[in-house]
Amino acid sequence: MKVGIVGWRGMVGSVLLQRMVEEGDFGIGIEPVFFSTSQAGQPAPMNAGTLKSADDIAELKKLDIIITCQGGDYTKAVHPELRKQGWQGYWIDAASTLRMEPDAVIILDPINRNVIDAALAKGQKDFIGGNCTVSLMLMGLGGLFRAGLVEWMSSMTYQAASGAGAPNMRELLSQMGVLQGVVAEELKNPGSAILEIDKKVTATLRDGSMPMKEFGGFPLAGNVLPWIDREVEDGQSREEWKGFAETNKILGTSTPIPVDGICVRVGAMRCHSQAITIKLNKDLPLADIEQIIANDNAWAKLVPNTKADTLAQLTPAAVSGLLTVPVGRVRKMKMGPQFVQAFTCGDQLLWGAAEPLRRMLRILVE
Ligand code: HSE
Repeated sequence: MKVGIVGWRGMVGSVLLQRMVEEGDFGIGIEPVFFSTSQAGQPAPMNAGTLKSADDIAELKKLDIIITCQGGDYTKAVHPELRKQGWQGYWIDAASTLRMEPDAVIILDPINRNVIDAALAKGQKDFIGGNCTVSLMLMGLGGLFRAGLVEWMSSMTYQAASGAGAPNMRELLSQMGVLQGVVAEELKNPGSAILEIDKKVTATLRDGSMPMKEFGGFPLAGNVLPWIDREVEDGQSREEWKGFAETNKILGTSTPIPVDGICVRVGAMRCHSQAITIKLNKDLPLADIEQIIANDNAWAKLVPNTKADTLAQLTPAAVSGLLTVPVGRVRKMKMGPQFVQAFTCGDQLLWGAAEPLRRMLRILVE
């Protein structure tokens, strides 16, 4: 199989390549062809000859599979042209552009391998990675959905800077540095007045002197931003809209399950966290609920609902760089025996972006 790889130099693409190397994906009989939007002709990674131009439709048409992390604009420009010219290969994409197209499958194989296999059997060719928040929620709590137990779910998110892009991660850190800098002298003196420190920090958050270009003119350090992406309708953001649309598409539900909540950007680097409220359609003992979560897939990990376990295992600091998706704080709520709360946290660049793509490649090749 000739496999074209586009957008491998960006953040998601770099994580993808790293994971492909770690898992030996280049040793399964594929012939990788690397593409570039700006450096065609230069040496490709993995000793794979030279870089081809990512806009060269004739070169792209020679491929059996294309994996792209190049972004939505690239997909919009290239995918329709390839299909128009009769290209019959498989298109594996991290961008959201094609996700909700009827012919496209949202890939998260530990959760929806049945949906993927049915699509392959029907001859479908477009396999698209899901929204990171949705994919991470389903990796953690998919067991409850797949057991048909969820009447509705609300997810309140705490999304990391990486979801907005690499420049945003840098800007977050620069903002942290600026805030520390304005009170560095006071911090050296344990006796300095905390309200004076806070006053200086708040003034800096408001006076426009921090680097804030990437977050649309607002600080993320020392702040939270309760709106991600544009408005869709009725005061709902697009990120929130995806919760319902993509969860149901991934699961292939015939009667859609309501999923809703507020998506919030916080000052974490690359792990998205979510506080979940679930209404079950029956009163199940807590131990059964925990078993279903823990046993659903190899990556979901139940964290005991204690302070020590939670703080040690259920935070972005603990989870960054790991494929494990911990789920904790699981308990019945005061609203009634069918109401369950949970908290989950996951690396947004792994299961949230790169991992489903490389696994789809293996499904196609093996
Ligand atoms: N839309 C997500 C976010 C990232 O802004 O965090 C990728 O799905």
